[in-house]
Amino acid sequence: MAKSDLSTESSDAFTAEFNNGLDIRKRRKNTITVKTMLLYSTAFVLTTAAFVKLFTTGSSSPWGGSQGHRGPPKNIEWKSIKYSVVEGYFAQDEPETDQFNFDYINEDFGLLTTFDTAKKALAENPGLKDQGPMWKEFRQEIEQLNKDAPDNVQYKVFFLARHGQAMHNAASLYYGKEMWSCYWSLLDGNGTHRWDDPVLTAQGTSEAKAASVAWQKQLSHGAPFPDNFFVSPLTRPADTLMHTWSDIFTTLGRHAPRPIVTENLRETLGVHTCDRRKTKCEIASNYPNFDFEPGFPDIDPKWAPVFRETLPQRKERLRKVLDSVVTNPKVGTFISFTAHGGAINSTMENFGHREWKMKTGEMIPVVVKVEFVKEKRPKVHVGPSETAPVCTEMPTIVPPPPGLGEEDDEDEEQKIENGA
Ligand SMILES: *[C@@H]1O[C@H](CO)[C@@H](O)[C@H](O)[C@H]1NC(C)=O
Ligand SMILES: *[C@@H]1O[C@H](CO)[C@@H](O)[C@H](O)[C@H]1NC(C)=O
Repeated sequence: MAKSDLSTESSDAFTAEFNNGLDIRKRRKNTITVKTMLLYSTAFVLTTAAFVKLFTTGSSSPWGGSQGHRGPPKNIEWKSIKYSVVEGYFAQDEPETDQFNFDYINEDFGLLTTFDTAKKALAENPGLKDQGPMWKEFRQEIEQLNKDAPDNVQYKVFFLARHGQAMHNAASLYYGKEMWSCYWSLLDGNGTHRWDDPVLTAQGTSEAKAASVAWQKQLSHGAPFPDNFFVSPLTRPADTLMHTWSDIFTTLGRHAPRPIVTENLRETLGVHTCDRRKTKCEIASNYPNFDFEPGFPDIDPKWAPVFRETLPQRKERLRKVLDSVVTNPKVGTFISFTAHGGAINSTMENFGHREWKMKTGEMIPVVVKVEFVKEKRPKVHVGPSETAPVCTEMPTIVPPPPGLGEEDDEDEEQKIENGA
């Protein structure tokens, strides 16, 4: 019951549970303790600096405390919600930005310097740009937008993160898209590698750790700390969130936010075993510092072996997530999603974002105008689900090598992740 509460009144019991969760993971990862400790101390210094900055600028507080509207507008009749991208803050929504050669880490998440508050600040102090990305001005402007907005309008900033590379991404590269879709994606693995609800590959883990370092750097420059974290129930985004945020959360102690496991943030439903989730029990024991949205069932109710969700169906499913997030009075202005390429594509489709293909481990920020309107939304017809395509050739099946169980480095990494 209280589990689903987004409240930030983290009791000592919660803190103990949170720390215990980290301890379990630390024990699992005892081979890399020295590295982890180094990261912890860097994280501590950087985030402390960021919070001192936040408090002194007094704009938004990092733990669910940002100013601005929360929940649906009061005293206004509304029937549906409209979403649109507010351009001018991030390079990723400008039509001329090349989505295939954009490095969100080197580009300070894409933050521009051409929005009003930044322009004014630069007119007074042209050297400001060289001191780092202009997050302070960004936060001021978002706060001002919310202050000036009519009662039925709110501005939110979404940070949409795709999980790092996982086993199924590697397998689909290995087998090619066609054989992957008609044959291999239907299986749990190939005898040497598993990809049902897969773990991250070594590459995926480093992508998530690079995201952590990037966030620590941007926070130290005053980037907004997300008020709320939502995560897909699948293992790859959950592990990505942990690799990206757990060091930073540790420095917050009892103020650390508890990510909310959200059913509809998961990837395209059905057929592919990589998109079938574990039970709530298993997820809860793997991630003791996560909470679950209300009514999250133990057994996966959404995945079926035959029917595959289509793009219009997926878009409607992700709209439900957005509607429930922006009508939740405990959700602030700055919102983090850790999810999947497809789920993020559909989220952006609901915002009306330009095409942006997410790389594994990439994160994209989007400023969104949320309008509560009187008109009902016209009914959307999503059509029937798809089934797996028929193979046009026979799959090449390599017999598993003798001595199965002797694992290579990548499998060793999996075993550590799984706590084996
Ligand atoms: C299983 O797939 C992986 C790619 O994910 C590949 O490296 C491995 O060789 C495959 N195993 C067999 C037995 O074909
Ligand atoms: C989402 O994916 C579809 C199909 O690949 C593509 O046509 C569309 O442009 C994508 N949308 C975004 C926002 O990237």
